[in-house]
Amino acid sequence: MGKFQVISHPLIQHKLSILRREDTSTKVFRELVNEIAMLMGYEVSRDLPLEDIDIQTPITKTTQKQLAGKKLAIVPILRAGIGMVDGLVSLVPAAKVGHIGMYRDEETLQPVEYLVKLPEDIDQRQIFLVDPMLATGGSAILAVDSLKKRGAANIKFVCLVAAPEGVKALQEAHPDIDIYTAALDEKLNDNGYIIPGLGDAGDRLFGTK
Ligand code: PRP
Ligand code: URA
Repeated sequence: MGKFQVISHPLIQHKLSILRREDTSTKVFRELVNEIAMLMGYEVSRDLPLEDIDIQTPITKTTQKQLAGKKLAIVPILRAGIGMVDGLVSLVPAAKVGHIGMYRDEETLQPVEYLVKLPEDIDQRQIFLVDPMLATGGSAILAVDSLKKRGAANIKFVCLVAAPEGVKALQEAHPDIDIYTAALDEKLNDNGYIIPGLGDAGDRLFGTK
């Protein structure tokens, strides 16, 4: 079974509380999503492999470490996942960015995929699949299906707010992937929204409602 980790650093909890407030503006919401993603990135990238590199300092030759092996791809689930990309890219500027477009049918709550654009060598990359919300889990499951269909084998799912129902569904469908969240909330309501949650992440991020 992959890892499940709630990254509950005090800075993250503080920023997340502001993010949840209904009176938080689109501008601040956008800034906070990126900041929290960046703070989470520190932990999510903890087991990236290192290799030795010989360098010359002004004083002497020395063997030090650099990131090695598998390269990284950051893959946001559109729309709301886009809000997390810049924060993560600021930590790993060489990362490639793929996109998976998906929306939830508001009646059936089933995800509908409308776009997949990934780096060509996605099968050789460590993937950070990002979406602020893990609610029923349908979107994340379909996104992982889509990545695996294209050969991806090394996937970490990173979200800000997760419902227990979504965590369970994603773990059952894809027991091999690691899941990181900034908060594990109480449950879903009848419309598939997370309680207490933060509302519709895409609408709040892009100001569309
Ligand atoms: C939201 C969110 C996730 C999905 C989570 O996207 O960003 O992708 O819902 O719900 P699930 O776990 O039940 O699938 P939404 O469908 O609202 O699309 P949008 O980001 O384009 O607004
Ligand atoms: N998608 C969202 O944006 N928010 C929720 O609470 C559930 C799904």
